Amino acid sequence: MQTQSLWEHTLTFFPQFLAALRERVAPDATVAVVGASDGRFVLPLAAAGYRVIAIERDALALHGGEVSLPGDTRAHAMGLIDRLKLDELYNQVHVVEEDFLQSAPPAAPCDAIWTSCSWHYSANHHRPLAEFVDRMQRLVRPGGLFGAEFMMPVEKRHHLVEHYTSPERLRHQFIGDWDVLLTLRTNEFIERAHIGRPHDHTHRMGLFLAARTPAPHHRYGKKDS
Ligand SMILES: C[S@@+](CC[C@H](N)C(=O)[O-])C[C@H]1O[C@@H](n2cnc3c(N)ncnc32)[C@H](O)[C@@H]1O
Repeated sequence: MQTQSLWEHTLTFFPQFLAALRERVAPDATVAVVGASDGRFVLPLAAAGYRVIAIERDALALHGGEVSLPGDTRAHAMGLIDRLKLDELYNQVHVVEEDFLQSAPPAAPCDAIWTSCSWHYSANHHRPLAEFVDRMQRLVRPGGLFGAEFMMPVEKRHHLVEHYTSPERLRHQFIGDWDVLLTLRTNEFIERAHIGRPHDHTHRMGLFLAARTPAPHHRYGKKDS
């Protein structure tokens, strides 16, 4: 990659998602990234050969512009689109500049979906978390992969918002045609200052990976032998 995401140094469980992806879907599968931001995960997925649908509501993250960084510095940040063009990956990515909660589903379901610390954003609090998760689930084809890393509650105010959640609470939405593959959680840890958070702060993160049960095999016109 010729450029770095503004989020490059924050903790992530993305390697666990990528390992499950390699095991379960084809090398040219379609992966949707909800809350794509400036492409920290979109670029490596596209570079690995996946087709990517990048859904992001923030124009600055997509088109770039002036940002405030820790240490009271202003800088010009490159957006997702220019980063993709620079690395000649733009052809492999369909950028959807929309609020995920308002966006129309793609014509065909995806092989996998991933989101990283997106649903706790206050812009999503007007809808139940279950709706966000359900929308993600519906985008996954039978046999496909669901992956989400998310903020768990740390501060008192987080406990009042259901969008700071836990693997246990999410599990209720994955009964029926889902197999839960892996759940992880960190302890509380100090995250260094980054864009949007000018000071070091405490986080706790969770990971939820699940596979949608494959569709039963249809035997069109065949008789049992
Ligand atoms: C915390 S950032 C991504 C950081 C991520 N941990 C990383 O390393 O790239 C989450 C992104 O999700 C986006 N987002 C949150 N809710 C969204 C929604 N409803 N529709 C589209 N994008 C959304 C935000 O605009 C933000 O760019």
